[in-house]
This record gives sequence, C-alpha cells and structure tokens, in this order.
Amino acid sequence: MSDKKTDENYMSIALDLAAMGQGRTSPNPMVGAVIVKEGNIVGKGWHKKAGTPHGEAAALAKAGASAEGGTLYVNLEPCCHRDKLTPPCTDAILKSGIRRVVVGMQDPNPKVSGKGIETLREAGVQVDVGVLQERCERLNKVFTKFITARMPFVTLKVAQTLDGKIATSTGESKWITGPEARKHGHMLRNFADAIIVGIGTVLRDDPSLTTRIEDADNARDPERIILDSTLRIPLDAKVLNVQSNAKTHIVTTLAAPTAKIKEIKKKGAEILIMEGDVIKLPLLMEEIGKMGLINVLIEGGSRVNAEALRSGVVDKAAFFIAPKILGGDDARGSIGGSSPESLDMAIPLFDMRFTRLGEDLLVEGYLRKPGENQPIGRQRSADSAAGQPAPQPVDMRRSQPAGHRRKKRHKK
Ligand SMILES: NC(=O)c1ccc[n+]([C@@H]2O[C@H](COP(=O)([O-])OP(=O)(O)OC[C@H]3O[C@@H](n4cnc5c(N)ncnc54)[C@H](OP(=O)(O)O)[C@@H]3O)[C@@H](O)[C@H]2O)c1
Repeated sequence: MSDKKTDENYMSIALDLAAMGQGRTSPNPMVGAVIVKEGNIVGKGWHKKAGTPHGEAAALAKAGASAEGGTLYVNLEPCCHRDKLTPPCTDAILKSGIRRVVVGMQDPNPKVSGKGIETLREAGVQVDVGVLQERCERLNKVFTKFITARMPFVTLKVAQTLDGKIATSTGESKWITGPEARKHGHMLRNFADAIIVGIGTVLRDDPSLTTRIEDADNARDPERIILDSTLRIPLDAKVLNVQSNAKTHIVTTLAAPTAKIKEIKKKGAEILIMEGDVIKLPLLMEEIGKMGLINVLIEGGSRVNAEALRSGVVDKAAFFIAPKILGGDDARGSIGGSSPESLDMAIPLFDMRFTRLGEDLLVEGYLRKPGENQPIGRQRSADSAAGQPAPQPVDMRRSQPAGHRRKKRHKK
C-alpha cells in the first residue's frame, strides 16, 4: 500500500471510531483516534460524551508505553486549550513520545484552529493535515456550525407524499411513509439533541416526540421544544406527561397567561418566554445553543417548516418522500405560507444524497455551501440567483440590534 493509501486507511478507521459517538458528544465534536506502530494498531479510542476523555487521550491510554515512536491518526486537530475539565490533548501526545500525527481537519474552534498543530510541530512532532478531509468535515458539520456561529445545526425533517403533502385536508398524517422510513426518522431523533414542533402538530397529533428504536437500551430522547405563543397546549398533552429523561420546553411569548404557565411548570416542563407576540426562530436558536443543544431536528408542521426556512435557520433538509399522490389544495403542504413570485427565489440545496428506504425515498441536502454559516432564506436565494454578490457571512448572534436579545427563562 502507498503511504497515502495507508494514511487514508487508518484515518478511515479513526472516522468510524469517531462516528460511534454520534448524538452523544454535544457540545463537543466526534473524535476518533488510532495509534499505529510498525504497521500494527496499538491503541484505538473515541470521544464518548462531553466530560469524558477525548479520542486521542482514550487511544493513548489504550496504547500505553507502546505509543512511543508511533503515529497517531485523528480526524480532528488535537486540542491545546486549558479551559476545560479535560487536559489538552497536545500535552498527552507530547508526553507519550508519538513521533508523527496525521490530522483529518483543522479544528474550526477559534480557540484551537491551527494552534494544536503548531504546538506539536514546535515540539518536533511531524504533523500532516488533510487526510480524508472531506469525510472529516462532513462528520463534524454539526460541531462546526455550533462552534463558529454559536447556533445549533438544524435539520428540517419532513415526511411527505410525492406531491408534497404532509397531511390530508383534515390534518391526518399517520402514516405517510412506510416502516423503514419511520425507523430512519427515529434514528434521526436518537442522534438529535432537541426536536421542535409547532403547537398545531401537538393539537392535531398529540405526539410524544420520543425515540423508539429496536436497541431501546441505547435510545436517547431529544429534548422536546414546542412553539406555542399563547399556551394553547392541553395539560393532558403527551409531551407534558411522557416518561422520559429528556426535558420538555414550551416556548411562548409575553401573551401567555400566568396561570397556565404555573400549571405547565407543575407538570415538570420548562417555560421559555420570548418577548414580543411572535417567537423569532433565530433568537430561539441562540437560546437553544446556550443550553448546549447543538443538533436540532424540526418536525414541523407546515407553518413551522415555512417559518424555519423563511428565517434562514435551517442547515439541512431531510425529506422522506412516499410514492403516494394525495392531491387537493386543501391538503397540508410540507411548507406552508405563501409561495414566492419567482422560481429564482426557490431555495437551492447542495451536496445531495438519495437513499431508498423500502418504498420511500429519503432526499437530503444542505442549505449552506461548505464554510458558510449565513442564513439562506428566500431573499438571500433570490439575490444569488440574480447574480448579485452574496452578502458576506455574518455572525448571526450579531445580526440582531443590540438590546434585542430577549428572553425570560422560567425553570421548573
Ligand atoms: N408529515 C409530516 O412530516 C408532519 C410532521 C409534523 C406535522 N404534520 C402535520 O402538520 C399539521 C400541523 O401543521 P400546522 O401548520 O397546522 O401546525 P404547526 O406548524 O405544527 O404549528 C403551527 C403553530 O405553531 C405556533 N408557532 C409559534 N411560533 C411559531 C413560529 N415562529 N413559526 C410558526 N409557527 C409558530 C403557531 O401557533 P400560535 O400562534 O398559537 O403559537 C402556529 O399556528 C398536522 O396535520 C400534522 O399532522 C406532518
């Protein structure tokens, strides 16, 4: 095997190890590491959960003294900062006597971003960067979004008919897709930190918003976030009564009646009051990011999906499409609201992926090009299509006027 192939081979193993932490490492990245000496793997490890050893530290601990003189493969640049419970990985690497470090991608965290690599090089360690970089970047898209924009990565999940309907004229939506697609949908929940739905969906479907997968011991419920600006939620709604380790948050506005707030808190749910009479999704995403929830799934309905796209908070679309035609202007379309006037204003998707799930098709794509964090709403899309220079990337936290950050958090 050529040196390049050898490096790719071990990096691929590191990536597979990293992926074992999927959905469990927030707000940290997924990191896997392999230590190779004289053609043999002497240590492997991955980051399992925030607060536990990083991937490199886990692999070094496995390798022990055999790490000396070896090569460490790691999908993300080793950290060098000292403001966490876990010590910097660069210290552990230098102490172990590792001679070469192969890094998949530079850490997008501004606190690290090249400094970890520099620290190692300055100490005489050979560092090679960029092996299987694209795969590495794809794996940690969620972390990259969070660490650069301080906003969660948002996936809009929709189950629709071929003609784009998510419910009949009476609101019936169970089930549009088949068992394989629904199983996959539950895996998305299993990996998500939070799931958002509108009160319309709660009133119509009374969902529990839990994760139901075969491997129940390893299932994790996302935190449930309900958008309900006047607290129309019934006290017997499943989301307020479900047995789950994950919290339920009801996001509301100053229009919410105080008595109902008290009743909901008695149920153990948390209330988040946003100022004004509507819930502004970019502001809500900031709050969700502050809670350490970095991977968010939006499961609509129609109005919430529309507002999520309009406000530019969505990073990825995951549309499950069933081979069924429902028809009817009165059936619920997957994205509500009014249609733009021009096709130029359609929101483009990038880096598409198509997966067959039983009879259904899962279509996935990103709403932002690699390296972009700026919102892509309809306006932005129209600007680009018209050949206008795209606006410069913005820090979305600063895109609101000062003093506009408003929320009151009521703990249970
Ligand atoms: N097939 C699928 O993938 C799928 C998934 C989910 C739901 N559904 C179906 O979708 C239907 C419900 O859709 P829907 O459009 O009626 O309701 P929805 O999108 O679930 O909820 C909309 C409601 O949420 C509240 N809300 C608060 N803040 C909001 C914001 N920033 N943006 C948007 N809404 C906000 C509003 O009520 P307030 O003004 O009272 O706050 C609004 O009327 C049901 O039939 C359900 O079965 C299908």
